[in-house]
Parts: sequence; structure tokens; C-alpha cells
Amino acid sequence: MYSRIAGTGSYLPEKVLTNRELEQMVDTSDEWIRTRTGIERRHIAAADETTSTMATEAARRALAAAGVTAADVDLVVVGTTTPDLVFPNVATMVSAALGIRDRPAIGLEAACSGFVYGLSIADKFVRLGDARCALVIGAETLTRIVDWTDRNTCVLFADGAGAVVLTPSPEPGIETTVIGADGQYRDLLYYPFGVSYGLDRLRGGEPAAIQMKGNEVFKVAVRTLAALVDETLAKTGLTTADVDWLVPHQANIRIIEAAARKLGMPMERVVVTVQDHGNTSAAAIPLALDTAIRDGRIRRGQRLLLETFGGGFTWGSALIRY
Ligand code: ACO
Repeated sequence: MYSRIAGTGSYLPEKVLTNRELEQMVDTSDEWIRTRTGIERRHIAAADETTSTMATEAARRALAAAGVTAADVDLVVVGTTTPDLVFPNVATMVSAALGIRDRPAIGLEAACSGFVYGLSIADKFVRLGDARCALVIGAETLTRIVDWTDRNTCVLFADGAGAVVLTPSPEPGIETTVIGADGQYRDLLYYPFGVSYGLDRLRGGEPAAIQMKGNEVFKVAVRTLAALVDETLAKTGLTTADVDWLVPHQANIRIIEAAARKLGMPMERVVVTVQDHGNTSAAAIPLALDTAIRDGRIRRGQRLLLETFGGGFTWGSALIRY
């Protein structure tokens, strides 16, 4: 038994913030942001929107696309770094909003890798017969944890949500997933405030906002993603020629291009949404996936390679026959 993607959905807040508008806020330029990151605009959650409200909307759209209802769902997994509250977890909030009761609801924290981690876990539930309809969501409200005076980070991060519905299938489906982590890199990318850490232990008086040594993250990301795609293909005996679409994490166009180059994938076979979405962390891959499915690029029967890298560091990949 395998799991397959029965449907996808996504949600982006209405408000769009352009690079030109950022020029009015910090010492930056549209040209710098576009050439260094590929980002042109990003979506920002409204005051009454949270990670769970965006996740719920993306989930509704994925359920509709899959032709199932909330009553069919027997597992909800939400990857996010920006939960509404410490607890209850966002997956329970999504379940409540959709009217799903008495089913497991897993909130999962793995920074940008949250969605792929969730996919890997839900895949196992479905394959083992413990779930027959799993909702896997990546959702973030990163703009709430950004220092809007720090040009190093505020031009990068954004909000949104994406979701997939997994159902059992005798044919793959998800062919394999690989997930990994290395905690020794915690100081290269982190958010300095946490519950057990406590505000009084904020290191060096840094603001409660995302801290990132972008340059160093960049180097480890490129190296790790290259090894990750090799490992993923080796696990299945497939080659790049068997992959129709690379659906990478959308952090930076230069990281995406480096990964594609390493794989020997022409950019025409790479889904790129970073120009419109910015870096939405755990939401980035399901947002890109849903965008490319709805605009007709990704079609049934094609093989997809998802790959991600984020804070922790964490990373993950999935080979999928869509
Ligand atoms: N506008 C203008 N100049 C800027 C800006 C800006 N918005 N931001 C930084 N600069 C300046 C820096 O101050 C620096 O100036 P200096 O040389 O005078 O000190 C110069 O630009 C170069 O800075 P670098 O950090 O070396 O620039 P780089 O080319 O590395 O690009 C970036 C920075 C875009 C952050 C890149 O390193 C990157 O994308 N890193 C990886 C991010 C990532 O993948 N994160 C992982 C996922 S996120 C997650 O897990 C939540």
C-alpha cells in the first residue's frame, strides 16, 4: 500500500508588499532584493489572520480538490514555526475549524522542513493503514516574527499556507521520503525567544525576531540539498531523467538554481514561486505545488522531487508520482 496526493490547496493573504514599498521602510533596493534573492513581492497576513486560519482555508481548498469532505479526514498534520499559541497546537485548531473530531492532530515544528516532515509522517500512517485520509499542511505567519528594521531578514520572509490530502493507493503515490537534521547549526538561523528559554535569557540583548547568518546558511543549504537529492534518487534507483518537476523550497532563487544545476535539471522543469511568495518557510513547498498544479504545469502521472532545507538545520525530500 502507498499513499497518493488526492488533492492540493493553498491560501495567500490579500495584502501584497512589493520591493518598492520595502525601499520606503529600510535601506534596500528592488534591484538588490531581486538579484540576491529572486523575490519581487510577498503576501502579508491581515491583523485578524493567523497561521491556523490560513491553514484552514488551504485545507478546505485541498479537500475540495480531492473530492472529499472534512468528515473523511482521520489525520491532521500541520508543520509550522509560527503557531497561533504554544498550545493547543495549530492542527487541533484546524481540526476544530473544519469540524473534525476525535482524530489525531499533530503540530510539527521543523522550520522550513515542517511540511516535508509532515508528509513523511502522514505517508507512513496511510501506508500502515492507520489513516485513510490525511491532511498535511504547511502554514506560516513569519511576518509576525520579523524585525521590520533589519534589512537582512525583513525582505525575505512572508505568510501563507498550503495543504495536500493523502489517500491510500495500490500504486505510488509517494515513492520515498528522506528527512534529516543536524542541530549543531542552531546559531546560524533561529528565533531567540521561547517558553522554557524565557525572555530574560535572550542572548546578547537581540530583539525577539528571526536571526540569520544568511551567507553561512546559504553555503550549508546548497551542500546539504545536493547530498539530499543524491540520497533520494539512489534510494529508488531513479535518475534526474525520471523526474519531471523539481519542487524546491522557495527561499532564494540562487539556492534553487544551484540545486537544479547540481541535478542537471533545466530551470524549465523547476517550479519557482519565490518571486511572488517570498520565503514562507513550511508553507513554501505546498504553495508552490498547488500553484503549479492549478496553472496546469504539473499533470497527473508526472514524477515530482520535493526538497527543502531550514532552521535547525532540518531538511527533507520526497519523490512523488503525482
Ligand atoms: N538590501 C541591501 N543590502 C543588503 C540587504 C538588503 N535587504 N540585506 C543585506 N544587505 C547587505 C549586507 O549588509 C552586506 O553588506 P556589507 O557587505 O556592507 O556588510 C551585503 O548586502 C551582502 O550581504 P550577504 O549576507 O553577504 O548577502 P548574500 O549574497 O549572502 O545574500 C541572503 C543574503 C539573501 C540572505 C542569502 O545569504 C540567503 O538567501 N541565504 C539563505 C537563506 C535561507 O535559505 N534560509 C533558510 C531557510 S529560512 C528558514 O528556515 C526559516
